Amino acid sequence: MGLTEQTIQEIIEACASMSGLPYDGEPVDQLEHALQCAAIAQERRAEDAEFIIACLLHDIARAPAVAGIPYDGPGEHHGQTAARWLTPRVGERVAWLAAQHVPAKRFLVATDPGYGATLSEVSRRTLRAQGGAMDAGEISSFQSARDWREAVELRLIDDLGKVPGLRVPEVEHYRPQLSAVVSRTLAR
Ligand SMILES: [Fe+2]
Repeated sequence: MGLTEQTIQEIIEACASMSGLPYDGEPVDQLEHALQCAAIAQERRAEDAEFIIACLLHDIARAPAVAGIPYDGPGEHHGQTAARWLTPRVGERVAWLAAQHVPAKRFLVATDPGYGATLSEVSRRTLRAQGGAMDAGEISSFQSARDWREAVELRLIDDLGKVPGLRVPEVEHYRPQLSAVVSRTLAR
């Protein structure tokens, strides 16, 4: 098996290891959440393999095979942990998008008056631990990033991927996108 194939296999196994893992108090497990997010991403941005993979893997730090951290630790949230693992495997853009799903929530709370009310109770509780709404300085530095709109979209998808019993494609379905993104990253 070549390095690309090996890396894809490692990512697929990391996803599989999220099966049965509780997603804080949400009504789906971590794997179902990841797969629902990827399915929505594919509907909305079928051409953007990196975005689809970022949606699939944004919570990968929860996977026992990666770090297995159940909650946000002091000084680092699970998006940042994910980004460190993702960068050498799927590249900087995917890693950045994954890392932004926590800041993007803080951005949305600060800029969209209706957004806070749409959050689940769990998500509202974790918001406090994550630093609450962004201030003006944080908002402008967030919006200076090239892909900030995609980061916001990933976050909105993250909030939707919590439907109990929804049937969506398995991880294997994303092998073509994974393959494109991993081979591009390893060729750099
Ligand atoms: Fe998530």
